[in-house]
Amino acid sequence: MALPRGPRAPAPFNTVRFGRRPIQTLLRWRSLYGDLFTVRFLVFGTGVYVADPAAIRELFTGDQSDLHAGEANAPLSGVLGEHSVLVLDGAAHLRQRRLLLPPFQGSAVKEMRPLIREVAEAEVDRWVPGSEFPARERMRALTFEVICRAVFGVYEPHRVARLRRAMLAVIDTQILFFAPEAVRRDRGRWSPGGWLARRLRAADALLYEEIERRRREPDLEQRTDVLSLLLRARDEDGNGMSDVELRDELMTMLAAGHETTATALASALDLLLHNRRAMGRLLDELPGDGDEYLDAVVTETLRIRPVIDATERTLKAPRRVGGWDLPEGIRVYPGIALVHHREDLYPRPAEFRPERFLDEGAESYTWLPFGGGIRRCIGAALAQAEMAEVLRVVLSRVDLAPVRPRPEPVVLRGITLAPKHGARVRVTAVGARGERRDELVGAAG
Ligand code: HEM
Repeated sequence: MALPRGPRAPAPFNTVRFGRRPIQTLLRWRSLYGDLFTVRFLVFGTGVYVADPAAIRELFTGDQSDLHAGEANAPLSGVLGEHSVLVLDGAAHLRQRRLLLPPFQGSAVKEMRPLIREVAEAEVDRWVPGSEFPARERMRALTFEVICRAVFGVYEPHRVARLRRAMLAVIDTQILFFAPEAVRRDRGRWSPGGWLARRLRAADALLYEEIERRRREPDLEQRTDVLSLLLRARDEDGNGMSDVELRDELMTMLAAGHETTATALASALDLLLHNRRAMGRLLDELPGDGDEYLDAVVTETLRIRPVIDATERTLKAPRRVGGWDLPEGIRVYPGIALVHHREDLYPRPAEFRPERFLDEGAESYTWLPFGGGIRRCIGAALAQAEMAEVLRVVLSRVDLAPVRPRPEPVVLRGITLAPKHGARVRVTAVGARGERRDELVGAAG
């Protein structure tokens, strides 16, 4: 079967080009080859990008049993574990997903907002006037803390610190996650595989300790953190999750949920600090009751700078996609960034204009930063609530100025599309905002 046309360059060239300028490269390929195009990448192999929302709707609705997403993530199972919802497909995936979804529903996430604000306030109160840093780094510390408390239910500072050290030591070796099996294998103390295995053993020991402690907590029935809810969850046959399953999902939620949200927050700050109009309107709204503009800022940030450029599905049977008969085994990439930058859906797509989403909310198949269908991001509501609450706290408590005169270019960092320099900011003043509003608005370009 013929595949749609695409760049003819070899895989290493496409991979490097994409890594340096992911959004521009995808848009260029779309302008050359149309809504479906085929690309060869290193590690991920050959795949077909889809930029047509109607074709994506078909992929994300109805029977999706012939679309596998876990398979491509299989190399991650060494770290995330074999029960991770990210690496499973079929019935096993649906079982884990059904157990995981309730703690992340809107009502549960609403309960997490005060905690998110508390974590954000503690972080921001440490910022010193005159200091300069990449916002993404501070946001990573913050989103880690949120996962630790809201998801793991761990509050005591020394336990949080222990978990941070051990878990980040694993997550930060992500370069190894996708390395060939031969590289990841434990060949003793000095091998890369041995190094990873040692870090994993240390992180696992702490995770199992937390699970064990929680099982014995007398107030387990009353607790509302995700781990406690998962310990009480039962599947259709009345079975709970085993300790190994719990460990795997905790690791998965940390890996999927902290760097992504931190990157989105860094992008939001980068965009706002370079847009006087949007910043001014947001600062006007923040002291009031409504969150319409704040929510629109979050939605527009995730549109113009989606953290993940595309989702991935492997066809387990031939399928017609966007007018093409694609063969079994091929990878299909519903192109999040491509759809978000369509001129016919979002006039002047490169402009940051939260107003787009004030009258009409986002639609499922034209705004898809969290993917869709039976694999849609489990943490979508949490991530959006977290972005809104953190922006509220940051912009109400400190005045920031951008270090660079223009928004930073977007590059690939791990699997996220991130501002090239981590969104470098300077703290110009701290304390409750108010009289300094004009200064702050003035700082935006
Ligand atoms: C701005 C932040 C985030 C973004 C942009 C994001 C994006 C995504 C995307 C694109 C997918 C793949 C969806 C698909 O294949 O259709 C995904 C899956 C997933 N995300 Fe997120 N995510 C974010 C935050 C979170 C958070 C906070 C958590 C949990 C604490 C989380 C947990 C997961 C899980 C468990 C999956 C796998 C779902 C499945 O395979 O069924 N994510 N996310």
